[in-house]
Amino acid sequence: MATATARANLALVKYWGKRDATLNLPAAGSLSLTLDRLRTRTSVELHDGPNDELLIDGQPQSGKALSRISRFADLVRGPLGRSERIRVVSHNEFPTAAGLASSASAFAALAVAVPAAFEVELSDKARSILARRGSGSAARSIFGGFVRMNAGAHADGSDAYAEPLAADCPMHAVIAVAQAEAKKIGSTDGMEHTRATSPYHAAWLQLVERDLGEVQVALQSGDWDHLALLVEGNCLAMHADAMAARPGVLYFRPPTLLAIEAVRSLRQSGTPVFFTIDAGPHVVAFTPPSEVSRIAAHFAQLPGLAEVLTSGPGAAAQLEITP
Ligand code: PMV
Repeated sequence: MATATARANLALVKYWGKRDATLNLPAAGSLSLTLDRLRTRTSVELHDGPNDELLIDGQPQSGKALSRISRFADLVRGPLGRSERIRVVSHNEFPTAAGLASSASAFAALAVAVPAAFEVELSDKARSILARRGSGSAARSIFGGFVRMNAGAHADGSDAYAEPLAADCPMHAVIAVAQAEAKKIGSTDGMEHTRATSPYHAAWLQLVERDLGEVQVALQSGDWDHLALLVEGNCLAMHADAMAARPGVLYFRPPTLLAIEAVRSLRQSGTPVFFTIDAGPHVVAFTPPSEVSRIAAHFAQLPGLAEVLTSGPGAAAQLEITP
């Protein structure tokens, strides 16, 4: 049996659009921070039964969730010529129903644990490429701290992997988890629909290339004002791209707008803080460690939130060594 822990990440420069849907190749790069609080621990065991099995937080899974795992395991079994089935037991240390980037930590943990269960050792680069096949953002969760995903140019995806970024900007996250029904449009469907129908998509992809360079410079110099302009601008441009699709894809809910307002008014009164939002209604505020509790208290007063989570930067995905 092999057990791995991985953490979700939140993107400062978003991944929104694929250049190849089958190999899950991004059309542009992205840049994220891995978060300690959003942790998934996954054990993978080989067995001789007829089917792969998946338990998430004690609940046996079937249908789409299970077949996604089977297809992922085939990426490891196929080239090895192995046919054993896998039993996956996964535990999320954060609310999965809320749609908080759980596919990133889930597939990063699997990209470490599945090869290990088959006694194959992979480099971090190979793990990142494998994780990408499960979920684009999972490629970034192989690494800790700030991470850059390369879009790559090769048709086989061999250069589409993530790498850690050397930046010691002290950044924590405060997450306003909005009360919401389960996510209606998943990120893959949302980004494919946007690519196919949004008149803003080409402009969005051009913007990403520019933002990637500028965010890296601003992280090196710890320029919070410039980071606020770039990261909020990138997030809102991603959502503008999605909203301009036909029909428009709108992830914001009323609490999303209240949390945006809260972040902006805190910034106006001098607090270094800025927000980002993934393909869902939750708002993530990035801020130095000294401001975390004040921002969390501010968020806690907003109506329509299920909870407020806080997190520091997280480490790379790891294999547990069992004695
Ligand atoms: O990894 P996916 O396919 O769930 O896509 C993630 C997309 C966003 O979370 C919206 C942006 C990102 O870069 O994480």
